[in-house]
Amino acid sequence: MAEPVKKDQPIVRYSDLARSPANSQRSIDPSTHDHTPGEIAFREATQLKSLARSDASRIITSDVVVDPKAVQLFEQILKDVKVVYDAVRSGQTFRLDRIFGLAQAIVDYPDTDRLLYQVFEAQQQVYQPYLNSAHCTILAVQIARGMGHQRDELVQLTVASLVHDIGTQKLSQELLDKPGKLSKEEFAAVQTHPEVGYKLLMQYSPQHTWLAKIVRDEHERENGQGYPHGLHSEEIHDLAKVIGVADIYDALTSPRPYRRIFSPHEAVQELLDCQEHLGYSRPVVRALIQQLSLFPVGCWVRLSSQEIGRVVQSNSRSPLRPVVEVLHDSAGQPLASPRCVDLNTNPLLYIVSSLPLEAPASASSTNGRHE
Ligand SMILES: [Fe+2]
Repeated sequence: MAEPVKKDQPIVRYSDLARSPANSQRSIDPSTHDHTPGEIAFREATQLKSLARSDASRIITSDVVVDPKAVQLFEQILKDVKVVYDAVRSGQTFRLDRIFGLAQAIVDYPDTDRLLYQVFEAQQQVYQPYLNSAHCTILAVQIARGMGHQRDELVQLTVASLVHDIGTQKLSQELLDKPGKLSKEEFAAVQTHPEVGYKLLMQYSPQHTWLAKIVRDEHERENGQGYPHGLHSEEIHDLAKVIGVADIYDALTSPRPYRRIFSPHEAVQELLDCQEHLGYSRPVVRALIQQLSLFPVGCWVRLSSQEIGRVVQSNSRSPLRPVVEVLHDSAGQPLASPRCVDLNTNPLLYIVSSLPLEAPASASSTNGRHE
């Protein structure tokens, strides 16, 4: 698990390290980082809304303890996945050598929380399919590690997760980018992507049959309600079950135009609530909760001091006491110098509530979408 943040660790500005020329040209929409009252008190909501309005760019580029290696690895994920996806989209052959090398580097990187933090930092700046691959992969490795999978299996899992949606690159861009609910025919077309991915991988990487099988099974569910083949529990590849749950968690915590975004805290609760009737693997969901804790990286929280911050590192030994980057004082004012607090070594300080994120749209259903 992650090492605790040390007081003397250097503060590195994410924007200095991670902003590529392509990313720097993307505009940031402050409205997508607004926060809503929901169940929380009016004062809390007002503070958060003013935070989002006045300080949205700082949320994206806030000073946090960042490991340059994590930034580099995260950017490499985006780059290597893009190369493969672009090749598929343009009908060219592709090789997976770089993906296999990258997978080993990801598995050998010791601090998944720091990689996870890159996902939240980059959420408004990176094209969603590449970000989904990165987020899903980082989570899947963390979950599988918690389940006791050994290195060889972790590398296999990572390779499969990096390219798990390769089949979508044969769908029309219009369909992939469609903001509203899909028609029955469109949904049926989207549901072909695991089988398309299977065939692509069997064609271009036939020596790795396990890879094609994992990619094909990622949307299958324990109760036989998944697709493309409606497989049941024991018929589904074990590593596909891990990717399936990680993919759902990513979908819940990512902005979508057709439904509200879940905070990391809400996403964990949602997975717990829905695991039975939506057929998610119970051991996998349990491992995800153990690994992410009740306050996952990226989660906004209010501390007992009434200050507001964001979780930057979980603590598997003490799930209620993660490391928090404190960004706002007790009156809701942005701090000139945000600081990281390890709640595990500050017994007088604790989390009193997590703060839900604002919904970009009022719809609350994922009906008709492939996730
Ligand atoms: Fe998929």
